[in-house]
Amino acid sequence: MNKWIPITFLSLSAAFVLFSWTLYSDENSYEKKPPDYDPEMQKQGRLVWQKYNCHVCHQLYGLGGFLGPDLTNVSEKGFFYIDAFLKNGAASMPAFELTAVETKQLVEFLKATNASGSSNPKDYKKLWNGMIEQ
Ligand code: HEC
Repeated sequence: MNKWIPITFLSLSAAFVLFSWTLYSDENSYEKKPPDYDPEMQKQGRLVWQKYNCHVCHQLYGLGGFLGPDLTNVSEKGFFYIDAFLKNGAASMPAFELTAVETKQLVEFLKATNASGSSNPKDYKKLWNGMIEQ
């Protein structure tokens, strides 16, 4: 048997273990924080988002219609900011007649998108091990 076969196998296995270890031992990139949104409400909020077709004009994580701005991180502007747009509409955005509960659910959903992503990939920080930090 070619003596290089076991040597290559062992070195590749060692490289794999080492690489996995460096990836998963980096605790900062897998920080586990409790979510700052209500998980049940955000599920309902996704249905509200779909029901009123917000994605026709808005993007989430850069995907969707392009008439309005990306809303991935809009929850940072606060509940009343979003509520005002929903109630009054804007230039090319119709006013929506959501119930108070629907608005709350929708905002929880937008808090969840804010927690899980950023609308501008250019803002990502690239780490030494090839992972990204938002
Ligand atoms: C017909 C297209 C259209 C639909 C449908 C629509 N929007 Fe909009 N929306 C817009 C446009 C255009 C703007 C930008 C208005 C401006 O800045 O004058 C906007 C702005 C906003 C803003 C303010 C964003 C910011 O960063 O300032 C929020 C929040 C928003 N929309 C939420 C929603 C939600 C939630 C839905 C679904 C219930 C929705 N929109 C449906 C067109 C739409």
